[in-house]
Amino acid sequence: MTPAPYYPADPRNRTRPWDENRYRADGERLLREGRLGCFVVAGGQGSRLGFEGPKGCYPAGPVTGKSLFAIFAEQILAASKHYRRPIPWYIMTSPLNHAPTVEFFERHAYFGLNQDDVSFFAQGVMPSIDRATGRVLLASKHEVATNPDGHGGSLKALFVSGALDDMRARGVEHISYFQVDNPLVKCVDPVFLGLHATAPDSSGEMSSKMLPKRDPAERVGVFAKLDGKLGMVEYSDLPEKLASKRESDGRLTFNAGNPAIHLLGWRFVERLNSDPAFSLPFHRADKKVPCIDPETGANIDPAEPNAVKLERFVFDALPLAERSIILETDRTTEFAPIKNASGEDSSESSRRIQTERNAAWLELHGVQIPRTPQGEPDCVIEISPLTACSPEDLTDLPDRIQRGAKVAL
Ligand code: UD1
Repeated sequence: MTPAPYYPADPRNRTRPWDENRYRADGERLLREGRLGCFVVAGGQGSRLGFEGPKGCYPAGPVTGKSLFAIFAEQILAASKHYRRPIPWYIMTSPLNHAPTVEFFERHAYFGLNQDDVSFFAQGVMPSIDRATGRVLLASKHEVATNPDGHGGSLKALFVSGALDDMRARGVEHISYFQVDNPLVKCVDPVFLGLHATAPDSSGEMSSKMLPKRDPAERVGVFAKLDGKLGMVEYSDLPEKLASKRESDGRLTFNAGNPAIHLLGWRFVERLNSDPAFSLPFHRADKKVPCIDPETGANIDPAEPNAVKLERFVFDALPLAERSIILETDRTTEFAPIKNASGEDSSESSRRIQTERNAAWLELHGVQIPRTPQGEPDCVIEISPLTACSPEDLTDLPDRIQRGAKVAL
């Protein structure tokens, strides 16, 4: 196992300089030609967040309380306008949250997107298994208890749902894959698209972004080369000795953390599915699954994990790509996930990171931002993607933001 090479976030980095402008131009050309589709995996259950309803409906805008879905929709709308081509958006739900997800979009008039450019499909499910006996659990007398088959199920679901056919009909060649929990993700990133589609070390099949790990114990998977092939090693599988190994400059040797942002080639997904034996491996997770007692029919609402769930992970497809590239990104720019009710990766931490990114954008234009003695913005700032998708888009700005203010631009 060796560290995965990556394109550094700063293209002037001396260890691996690269031509950002060239790849941006390539990506922008593809966008003007209508070659990109967006794809969010939103079938997860969001149980850690304790939020009733589809996670994409969660209020994530730090000032407006705008939902995650609204934030992505605005980005896609802004990019479609900018590149003068509709960017179709595919939303993977699960049987558990499909109907309320579609209903949410209808209630919000598709957030201004053309309804024909938004498609929904539900992912597959797997039976949930009794941890103690290995038998399939029952949800009711005549119904097996099931769980969504993991975000890796998306590769099959894209195919069986007809989404891939829709992409072919539209001329879409690349799929921007992101998770529903990260309001800062760049749904449309021309530089990443250019690298994925045209860099010599990419086969245009599956590319990824990486985040330098915060510390050895951070619970994220890391990209690594295994027997010469790029892949992902889950944090639970990475021996502590390797997780804490450092280079001479102090950097963690295996520092390429996974923010779950990928580009997939349409052809790649089609090639995988054209093999009838195609299947990603299953991973096991022990979870609480409500069920009935098969003897008495009584409902069981377990307090402790009683079931084994089987899930597929999308990054297990990485070694199936011929040549796969990774682009470095950073937390403040592109990673503010909402996963937990409090603490790390919560709506509170996401609000803070979003404000930090927005403050940095405003400061580039000379706007004065009030800061705490620790250097954090002492205000809350939200920037709608319809106002700006990058700092260059910002105009008509105030000279300063007041201490304690809540500002939505
Ligand atoms: C995931 C990654 C982790 C990465 C982190 C970054 C895995 C196993 N781990 O962790 O390496 O560092 O994201 O944020 O993926 N989903 C579905 N259907 C499912 C299951 C999940 O659509 O059946 C979607 C969820 O809606 C969510 C995403 O996949 O958008 C992530 O799922 P989750 O199980 O929350 O993964 P994490 O533990 O956050």
